[in-house]
Amino acid sequence: MKSILEGRPALAHEINQVAEVAGYLWQKGWAERNGGNITINVTEFVDDEIRQLPALTEPKSIGATLPHLKGCYFYCKGTGKRMRDLARWPMANGSIIRICDDCASYVIIADQTVVPTSEVAAHLSVHNWLISQGGAKKATVHTHPIDLVAMTHNKRFLEKDAMTHLLWSMIPETKAFCPRGVGIVPYKMPSSVDLAEATLAELDDYDVVMWEKHGVFAVGDDVMDAFDQIDVLSKAAQIYLNARTMGFEPEGMTDEQMHEMTVAFGLPK
Ligand code: 13P
Ligand code: ZN
Repeated sequence: MKSILEGRPALAHEINQVAEVAGYLWQKGWAERNGGNITINVTEFVDDEIRQLPALTEPKSIGATLPHLKGCYFYCKGTGKRMRDLARWPMANGSIIRICDDCASYVIIADQTVVPTSEVAAHLSVHNWLISQGGAKKATVHTHPIDLVAMTHNKRFLEKDAMTHLLWSMIPETKAFCPRGVGIVPYKMPSSVDLAEATLAELDDYDVVMWEKHGVFAVGDDVMDAFDQIDVLSKAAQIYLNARTMGFEPEGMTDEQMHEMTVAFGLPK
């Protein structure tokens, strides 16, 4: 069977990056079993031949109407598929979908009928919003980092901006690489439209969204960029955790040190 990636180096490069990040998620211990999902807006790599490809499936409802996705194509991790398998075989553990003209459903067009992630409503709602903002962000990543998820089991860290300030203060570059911080979505049923809507609302104000007792949702220019944001936050959480394990509450950077960083890097307050 011929893959859609054959003869399309730019598209293949994009999908290979997804595979690389899927490997990192597994190595980090963030991707037990089928945990986590990645979607990429690949519309810019779609040529006339791809546009003519027949649908491999009947249209399936997204659960939301997303007008900015008209004519868009996405690579989606398959539901139930493992990141560690996707790392080696991205087109056997994910597929490319076309958004139907009603902007409320999609069909799979390549390579195989791998059903997209159960979190497709959250991912596509966020892509719809990203396009509406006119930015360059094409990637969305959801994963289950042990340290960050553990923190969401404590009410203290769920208070507005508590986690953001704690993580920023653990190591200087955290604020530079995640300048708008972490939004919190109170626990919601995985894969629900409620979870998708709550995630969207937080992205107005924050770079990365924590799903209470579940995981992290990040957006990025590309999949590496989205991964980096989560990695930086997880590093800060690790420093906090290590200090606590050594038996003390870490001091954290002082307000003066945070202010100095904020000015030097031209970051938002
Ligand atoms: P999928 O296997 O459907 O992508 O689900 C994994 C997950 O993490 C759900 O939140
Ligand atoms: Zn999940």
